[in-house]
This record gives sequence, structure tokens and C-alpha cells, in this order.
Amino acid sequence: MSAAGSPRYSPAWLGLREEADAQARATRLLDPLRPHLAGLARPVIRDLGCGTGSMGRWLAGRLPGPQHWVMYDSDPELLDHARANMLDTAADGTPVTVETRVRDVTGLTAADLAGTSLVTASALLDLLTVDEVDGLARACVGAGTPALLTLSVVGRVELTPADPLDAGIAAAFNAHQRRVDGGRRLLGPDAVDAAAEAFTRLGADVLVDPSPWRLGPDQADLMASWLRGWIDAAVAARPDLAEPAIGYARRRLAAARAGGLRIVVHHGDLLAQCE
Ligand SMILES: C[S@@+](CC[C@H](N)C(=O)[O-])C[C@H]1O[C@@H](n2cnc3c(N)ncnc32)[C@H](O)[C@@H]1O
Repeated sequence: MSAAGSPRYSPAWLGLREEADAQARATRLLDPLRPHLAGLARPVIRDLGCGTGSMGRWLAGRLPGPQHWVMYDSDPELLDHARANMLDTAADGTPVTVETRVRDVTGLTAADLAGTSLVTASALLDLLTVDEVDGLARACVGAGTPALLTLSVVGRVELTPADPLDAGIAAAFNAHQRRVDGGRRLLGPDAVDAAAEAFTRLGADVLVDPSPWRLGPDQADLMASWLRGWIDAAVAARPDLAEPAIGYARRRLAAARAGGLRIVVHHGDLLAQCE
């Protein structure tokens, strides 16, 4: 399936998760990037599947020097948000410029990445197939471009207090993440391992760090929205869970509203150094 067939991600949902994403991303992976970028006159950073531009807003202010961001998405409306809301300056006050491109990022080649200083993505990898991740790794390694690929789901969630249906819903959700969508088998929770394997096989140095969301009473809106999506996806994969899921959703949403629920949604971040 091409990107044209991808589900639409609402600006409201991306906005709701932006702060949790910002808190979760693994800052240790930025340490090897700073000296690499500091030596360049005007680094070009390509953010794949940028949505409303959350990755750029998080990263540009944490990196030194002038930066030029090229933001890609299949959704032109999200790109309008990204362009309009990008930071103007880097960590040291130097200018940040931005352009946007509507395109399916799964076809990017080493030639497309020529002269690119860094490829980034956030919450994208788990939407790709093993061949698409392999193609991305080939493009980055072929161009000698490092890749920072953040916030891929890894298939583990912890809800406190526990409920007898947690494990069944989690397993069904993971099955949904690994579904075949328009003839494409999505990687879902296998994305970080697949990317680490692909980049390592092609000779890149790979670092992986955890990047969990830690949701508590202060994030009740995000928690409720995530819970609804998590349960709906589980039921889509396992329709036999539809009936028990009604009571489960009621219990979990009530606990979230009352401030009595904590959720850890585990993700992984990956840095591939390809020089
Ligand atoms: C879960 S959202 C993450 C958005 C953003 N990176 C963030 O962290 O907020 C995934 C984004 O990837 C885009 N996307 C998914 N598959 C794509 C593809 N093959 N080519 C281009 N964009 C894609 C979607 O339109 C969506 O904006």
C-alpha cells in the first residue's frame, strides 16, 4: 500500500501526545550527534512522517548551529502545521529554516539523501514493513547519513492497578499492530529489532534506548484517548473481546478520570551511525 492509503493522524491526537513524547525520547542518543552536526556549516535534517512537526520542535532546540529541516509526510494538512509551527532558532540562537514535502517516505533512496546530515523519525517505524525498514537502512547507509528513529512501540504496557483483562487486550493490540494492511505486513512491536538488525547488517553502529511514556493523573486526557484507541485496536484484531472490552473500558476510563490509574507505554529509540 502506498502512503496514500495510510490512516489519517489527527492534529488533535498528535498535539495531545506531544508533551509525553517530548518527555519520553532518549536524550542520551543525542550525544554522538552533537559533535557530528557542530562540524557542518548548515546541517540538513530530513524528518520522515513528521506529522505536525513534533520531532522538529523537540530536537532543533537541543542541537547546535544553523539547521535546515526538510519535513516529509503523506498528509499535506499536517505538513502545513509543521511548517507554521517550527522553531526559528537552534540551541545556540542560530537560525533554523524549514521546507515541507508531500511524499511517501518508503521510497527514499541513497540518492534522495545525498548531502543529508541526519534523518529523523518519530512514531513512524512501527507503521512500516520489514522491507521498507530495510530500504530506509540501505538509503541511510548508502548516503552515509545517521538516523535517529524514536518512539517505536515495543509491545509492552504496564497498567497499575492491574486488571485481569490487561494481558488479553495487550496481546490483541499487538496482533493489530502486526496486521496486514493493504497487502503490507506492519512491523508494529517488531520495528526496533528489525531496524537494529537491518542497520547493523549494513555496517552501521546502532544504539537503542528505552523511551517509555509514563502516564499518571496529570495526563488524564492523553490516558483516556490512548486507552480508547488501545482497546478499539484490540477489539478490531479480536472481535470476541468486544463484549468484555465494554466493561473493561468503563473500569479503566473511570479510574483514569478519578486519578487512580498509572500507565507505562514502552517504546524504543534507535540511533544508527552510518558514516
Ligand atoms: C504516528 S504519526 C507521527 C507523527 C510525528 N512524527 C509525531 O511524532 O508526532 C505517523 C505519521 O507518519 C505519516 N506517515 C505514515 N506512513 C507514511 C509514509 N509511508 N510516507 C509518508 N508519511 C507517512 C503519517 O501521515 C503521520 O503523520
